[in-house]
Amino acid sequence: MKEKLQIALVTGGNKGIGFATAKQLLELGYFVYVGARDENKGLEAVQRLNAAGYKKAALLVIDVADINSVKAAAEQISAKGENLDVLINNAAIGGRQPQSAISLDISVLRSVYDTNFFGLVQVTQAMLPLLQKSAAPRIVNVSSELGSLGYHYRDKSEYFASNLMAYSTSKTAVNAYTLMLANAMQQTPFKINSVTPGYTATDLTDHTGSQTPDEAAKILVKYATLDEDGPSGKFFGSIGRMFW
Ligand SMILES: NC(=O)c1ccc[n+]([C@@H]2O[C@H](COP(=O)([O-])OP(=O)(O)OC[C@H]3O[C@@H](n4cnc5c(N)ncnc54)[C@H](OP(=O)(O)O)[C@@H]3O)[C@@H](O)[C@H]2O)c1
Repeated sequence: MKEKLQIALVTGGNKGIGFATAKQLLELGYFVYVGARDENKGLEAVQRLNAAGYKKAALLVIDVADINSVKAAAEQISAKGENLDVLINNAAIGGRQPQSAISLDISVLRSVYDTNFFGLVQVTQAMLPLLQKSAAPRIVNVSSELGSLGYHYRDKSEYFASNLMAYSTSKTAVNAYTLMLANAMQQTPFKINSVTPGYTATDLTDHTGSQTPDEAAKILVKYATLDEDGPSGKFFGSIGRMFW
C-alpha cells in the first residue's frame, strides 16, 4: 500500500533555523509548507529548496501576528483537502533593544508578544483542526534558553535582564502554553513540546551564534518526528530536558 504523504508547516521558514528545518524535513520525505510573511522572500526560499533538489516544498504566506493571514493560510491547506502532521512554530522576533525589566516601553513588549506568543497561539489554534486529522500530530514550539526561568534564576545575568526582557518572557509564555496545551490534549496522539535550538548564527543574533542553522534544525526535527512513545508537554534542548 502506498504510504500517506506526511505534511509539515514551518512558520518563518524563509530563512535561518526555519529554513534549515524545512530542508531537513524535506530530506526525510515530508511535504513542507514553507511559511513566510513576505511572499517574495518565501518564493525565493522555495526556489532555493527546489534548486537543491527538494521538490516537495510549497510557499504558504502566513504572517503569524495577523489573524486574517493565519486564517487564510489554514483555509488554503484545508481547501486542498489536506491535513497537517507537523507544525513547527518557529517564527519570532527579538524586538527593539534594550529591554530593561525596569523601564521597558510597553509598546515593545506588546509587539514582541504579538509575534512570539499571541502569534504562536493563534497559528496553533487555526491549525489544530488540520492536525487533528493526522494519526500522529506533532507540534514543536520553538523556545529559547532565555525562556527558562531556571536559567535566569541560576545565571542572574545583568546583560539579559537589561536587554532581553520582552523576548525572554515571551518564550517563558510559550513554554507555559506548551505545557497547558499538552495537558489539554493528553488523551490524544498529539506530542507537543517546547524546544530550544540553542545559540545559532542567524540574523536574529547578528550571526554571533556558536552553531549553524543546520545544527540547530536537527534538534527541532528530532522532536517533530517523535514516535508514539515520545514525550509531550516538556521542554528540550541539545542536552535533553531543560528547566522550565
Ligand atoms: N538564533 C538563535 O540563537 C536562537 C536561539 C534560541 C531560539 N531561537 C529561536 O529560533 C527561531 C528561529 O530564529 P532564527 O534565529 O532563525 O531567526 P531569524 O533568522 O531572524 O528568522 C526568523 C524568521 O521568523 C520570521 N518572522 C518574524 N516575524 C514573523 C511574523 N509576524 N510572521 C511570520 N514570520 C515571521 C522571519 O521572517 P522575515 O524574514 O520576513 O523577517 C524569519 O523567517 C525563533 O523562534 C527564535 O526565537 C533562536
